[in-house]
Amino acid sequence: MKILNNNNYTFNIDKFTPVECSLKVENFFNEFGFCVFENVIPQNKILQVKEEILVADKKIRDNLELYKKELKAGKSDEELLNDKNLELRESKYKNRPPKPANDIIWLKEYSNYLANEHIVEFAKKILDDHLKISQLHIKNIASQDNLSKSNIKLDDFGLPRIINGNEKTREWHTDWPHDPWAYGAGNENENIGSLRLPYPDFTFGLVMLWFLTDTDENSGGTFIVPKSHKFKDNPRVSTNISVVSPIEDEIQIKAKAGSVFVQDTRLWHSSSINLNKNQKRVAVLNRWYPWWLSVDDYAPQSRFNVVCRPLSKNDYKNLPEKLKPMLSHLCPNVKDLIQKPLLERSSKAVKSKIKQYKEL
Ligand SMILES: [Fe+2]
Repeated sequence: MKILNNNNYTFNIDKFTPVECSLKVENFFNEFGFCVFENVIPQNKILQVKEEILVADKKIRDNLELYKKELKAGKSDEELLNDKNLELRESKYKNRPPKPANDIIWLKEYSNYLANEHIVEFAKKILDDHLKISQLHIKNIASQDNLSKSNIKLDDFGLPRIINGNEKTREWHTDWPHDPWAYGAGNENENIGSLRLPYPDFTFGLVMLWFLTDTDENSGGTFIVPKSHKFKDNPRVSTNISVVSPIEDEIQIKAKAGSVFVQDTRLWHSSSINLNKNQKRVAVLNRWYPWWLSVDDYAPQSRFNVVCRPLSKNDYKNLPEKLKPMLSHLCPNVKDLIQKPLLERSSKAVKSKIKQYKEL
C-alpha cells in the first residue's frame, strides 16, 4: 500500500475555495475511503467550542438519565414532554414517543461551523445536493490511566461494547447503513435496517468526526483500514476477522484540533484508547446522508437511539441559516421540501424535453 500519513490525507481548507477543495479531495477520498479537512474550526474559536462541548456533554447525559428515571417512574409521554426539567422533543411522526432533543441545541457555537462551506460542498459532491444530517452526538474519550485487558459489556440495546482496554484493543466496524448490527440486532423495536453484503461500490453516507483536541496515537486517534470501503466483507459478520484485535494495514488518524475527519460509512474503523493522561479527546460526531435514504423509517418506538433526534420549531428557528437545510427533516412543524438544486434539476430536465413533445 502507498505510505499514508497525515501529510497526504490532510487538506487545509484555507488554501482552496470550497469547489477547488472538493475537486482536489474527491479522488483521494474515493480511493482511500477517508480524508481530513484542516482548519474548519478557526484556531481562535477552538477553546470556546471545546468548553461548550464539555458543558453540553454533562447536560446531555443528565437529560438522558432523567428521561430514563421518569419513564421508569411511570410518567406518560405527555407528562414527560411537559416536564420543565427535561429537554424532550416531539417526533415529526405521529404515534412515536418523544426523544431527547437533538444535541445541537446545546452546541450553539459549534453550530456556526457545522455547515462550513468546504464541508457542505464536499458532502454534496459525494452524496447529492440535498443533504440530511441524521445523527449528531458528542464523542469524547476520557484518558485511561490504567491499561487493562479488554472488557466488554452489553449496552442498553443488547450490543457488545468495549468499556476499557489497552493499546491493542479495537472495535472494528462500519457505520450505518453498512452496520449489520443495525442498532438493535434481532429486536424489531430497535433495528433500523442495514444493507446486505456484498455492498455496491457506492458511497451511501459520510461520517464526520470534528476534533476539538489534537488527536494522534496517544490521544484517541481513530484507527482505520485505508481502502477497506471497497472490501467485500464486514468485520461485524466475517468469521475470519477478529473485531477486537489490530489489523495489519491499519493506521491511526493524526489531526490538529479544528480538523474534521471524514469517512465513507463503509470504511473499517475503530475508536482507540486515549493514552494522554492530561486531556480528554474532545470531538463531535455526525452522519450525513443523501435525501433519498430511509434514515428514520424504522424502530418507530425507540426512545433512546441516536437516530434523527428531533428539534422543535423554535430550536430550528434559532439555528444558523446555512445549517437549516440539513436539519429541516428533524422538525415536526417545518415543511421538509425537496430543495432548490433538485427542483432546478427536475425543471431543467422537463424543459429540455418539452420541444420533443411539441414536435409530435
Ligand atoms: Fe463508527
